[in-house]
Amino acid sequence: MLENRDPRTVTRRDFMGGVMAAAAVGGAASAYASPATLQAAQYPAPATIELPKLPFGESDLAPHISQETISLHYGKHHKTYVDNTNKMIAGSELAAASLEDIVKATAGKPDKKGLFNNSAQVWNHTFYWKSLSPKGGGQPSGKLLDRVKSDFGDFAKFKEELAKAAVTQFGSGWAWLVLEGGKLKVLQTPNADTPLTNAAQKPLLTIDVWEHAYYVDYRNRRPDYVTAVLDKLINWEFAAANLG
Ligand SMILES: [Fe+2]
Repeated sequence: MLENRDPRTVTRRDFMGGVMAAAAVGGAASAYASPATLQAAQYPAPATIELPKLPFGESDLAPHISQETISLHYGKHHKTYVDNTNKMIAGSELAAASLEDIVKATAGKPDKKGLFNNSAQVWNHTFYWKSLSPKGGGQPSGKLLDRVKSDFGDFAKFKEELAKAAVTQFGSGWAWLVLEGGKLKVLQTPNADTPLTNAAQKPLLTIDVWEHAYYVDYRNRRPDYVTAVLDKLINWEFAAANLG
């Protein structure tokens, strides 16, 4: 999803930085890097997880989601998850890993909880932005609509189930539409948990139900936020593209 710099690409600055660091570790006895030191300098490239650009302007989702909410949500919350992830992977065995690999490698590991929470939140938010569109809402069409009808009965029932998942998720978390075993499925995840870590589930779209997603605009009225998202913003084209 997110593009990261090819970890095999080592710039001169990276290389010289590594040499300088390795020389410093080796002490002042040698002002020049030995062949062994040069070898040791070739650590994975520094952290490269980036904050992706929003697929719309900050005010494009108004009045359903305000510019203020997007500015805070994207510019503060999402960015902080990116910054924290980069700090945590710096100098580690995951320094050159892709975002997806970082999330999968840390899932379910108590000693990696902080890195999992931050990296999964980076991935979830990137997926969430793509799940919204200024031209969203309405109904899906084509293959996705056919699948909705066969797996849920009709679009109204499906929409009701997705809304219920979003509204009833206790505390912070996410509502998802996934493909599992060839069928559409609605599910909830708490906190940073994500279907990305379940090999049997393919995420199709998501709704962020952390309070920071709606509190500025809707205060405690999460159901109103969910209704607005489903009626006006949800990006069925993104879900259809993920369905393939
Ligand atoms: Fe969020």
